[in-house]
Amino acid sequence: MKVFYFSATGNCLAVAKNIGGEAISVPQAIHEEKSNYKDDAIGFVFPVFDGTYPRIMKELLDKKKFEADYYFAVATYGFFPGNSLYAFQKLASEHGIKLDYSAELLMVDNYLPLFDVEKEIAKLPSKKVEENLLRIASDIAARKHELTKNTMIKSIGAFFEKPMLKKTNSGQAARDFTVNNNCIKCGTCAKVCPAGNIDIQGRMAFDNRCYSCFACIHACPKTAIHIKGEKSDKRWRNPDVKLKELIDANKQEDR
Ligand SMILES: Cc1cc2nc3c(=O)[nH]c(=O)nc-3n(C[C@H](O)[C@H](O)[C@H](O)COP(=O)(O)O)c2cc1C
Repeated sequence: MKVFYFSATGNCLAVAKNIGGEAISVPQAIHEEKSNYKDDAIGFVFPVFDGTYPRIMKELLDKKKFEADYYFAVATYGFFPGNSLYAFQKLASEHGIKLDYSAELLMVDNYLPLFDVEKEIAKLPSKKVEENLLRIASDIAARKHELTKNTMIKSIGAFFEKPMLKKTNSGQAARDFTVNNNCIKCGTCAKVCPAGNIDIQGRMAFDNRCYSCFACIHACPKTAIHIKGEKSDKRWRNPDVKLKELIDANKQEDR
């Protein structure tokens, strides 16, 4: 089994590791020469961005070919999943992939302009992450066939999130980021950036390839990077994931 994951703050990486099989980072895979992936089961794990899937997931499906007897997708989210899985199911089918199983998993919301990480952590017991993840992992192990239903509310919510999505997908989301004097130029932000969008030589600068995943903001050891309107300066990394794992998953430095 191969599990393709995209993760900024570790939630999706923790899920991919938990599901088992070979976890493959999407930001690495899209630049690999290898173009065909074959296995008995292939899965996709991604965070919900503005009620849908992140644009890097489309880049993956546009660039690579997959062959499996069983396909699944898991979307992690913090508050409202929108129609992310239905949209991804449609995208996959346009690429010749018929999903057999999909599931949403409620985790910590890392969207700083709307959520305070401290309060998100306090909500964790009610989100029952472990219990739900265990169920999803055993569904996949049993090759269960079940697709997440799309509802009117999900579609309406996703519709209203569309203006936000425009900015998220513009590549220019980092225009809302600021860097303060706490920055020690350690380069962690550049290393965790899946777009290779951050230059720390000279005055720190963001280019126009930002995926708006917030990996840089959350990973900065000095909390030097901020986004307009953020609720607090508390940052998040899933406790089951080390910083080095996120760097290995996302780094684009050698390109
Ligand atoms: C730009 C952006 C948009 C987001 N939009 C949503 C959303 O529409 N609904 C939601 O519930 N969570 C949203 N989130 C929260 C993430 O989906 C959630 O925290 C996810 O588990 C993060 O996974 P990761 O740690 O693997 O990056 C958003 C996060 C970001 C950075």
